[in-house]
Amino acid sequence: MLTNTDESNLKVANLEIAQPDPRDAFFSVRDIHAYYGESYIVQGISLDLKEGEILALLGRNGAGKTSTLRTIARVDDPELKKGEIYLGGESLHDKKSYQAAQMGIQLVPEDRRIIGGLTVEENLVLAQVAEPLGWELERIYEHFPRLAERRTQIGTTLSGGEQQMLAVARALARDVKLLLLDEPYEGLAPVIVQEIEKIVRQIKELGITTIIVEQNAVAALKLADRAVIIDMGEVVYSGTAQDVLEDEDLRNEYLAI
Ligand SMILES: Nc1ncnc2c1ncn2[C@@H]1O[C@H](COP(=O)(O)OP(=O)(O)O)[C@@H](O)[C@H]1O
Ligand SMILES: [Mg+2]
Repeated sequence: MLTNTDESNLKVANLEIAQPDPRDAFFSVRDIHAYYGESYIVQGISLDLKEGEILALLGRNGAGKTSTLRTIARVDDPELKKGEIYLGGESLHDKKSYQAAQMGIQLVPEDRRIIGGLTVEENLVLAQVAEPLGWELERIYEHFPRLAERRTQIGTTLSGGEQQMLAVARALARDVKLLLLDEPYEGLAPVIVQEIEKIVRQIKELGITTIIVEQNAVAALKLADRAVIIDMGEVVYSGTAQDVLEDEDLRNEYLAI
C-alpha cells in the first residue's frame, strides 16, 4: 500500500520523468487498477513489451498475476477502473473481452477450458468460427503432431500436457498477437514441460508476443526475455529475465526459490 507521502512523491517523479507515449510500444500497460467488487487487487501495474518478446510475469501465490492477465484480456472481473492498455497503438482499456480477442489477445487460462464432448479437431474448428482467422488446421497439426494423432479424440480425455497444447493451438487458430499463458506447466511432467517450452519458442520465432505466468519461475525465466515481478498487486521488479536468474536475493524475497 502506498502512503500519502509515497503517492505525492510518485506524482512528482512522474512529472519529472517524461513518459514515452504508450501507443508507440507494441504492447503497453500503463498504471492499471482493477477490482473484484470492492476488493482492490491490481494496484497500478505498468509494463511494456516489444513485438516477439516473451515476458515472465512472476510473483508469489495471490500476488495478482491471474488478475493482471484477466484485466489485460478485458474480462469483466476484475473490473478495470483506471489505467490504459494499448496493443499496436490501439486502446484496449475501453474494450470488451470479445473485442480484445478480435484484436489478437488470447488468454489461455489455468484450467485450459477444453470444451467437453468435442473432439480435438472440433475444439480447433470452433475457435475458427469467429473472425479474424489464425492458422489453418494443417499448419496447427504440423506444429502439434500429438494433436494430429489425436484429432478425433474427445478433448477432455487428453492428458494434461496435450490439453495444454490444445489450448495453445486454439489460441493460434484465432489470429493471436499477444498470447497470455496462465501457469501452462502446472501439473505437467518435466518432459511435457519441455515440449510446451519448445512450442512457445517456435511461436516466438513466428513473431508472436507472449506473457507467461508461472509458479515454476526458473523454467519461465529460461524462456523469457524479460521479467516483471509483482507483489500485492504492484510491480516490485522489472528487468531482464537473466538478471532475475542471477539475483538470489530477489528470488528469495518474491519468488521463494
Ligand atoms: N474472483 C475474485 N474475487 C475476489 N478476490 C479475488 C478473486 N480472484 C482472486 N482474488 C484475490 O485477488 C488476489 C490475487 O489473486 P490472483 O490474481 O489469482 O493471484 P495469482 O494469480 O498471482 O496467484 C488474491 O488475494 C485473491 O484472493
Ligand atoms: Mg494465478
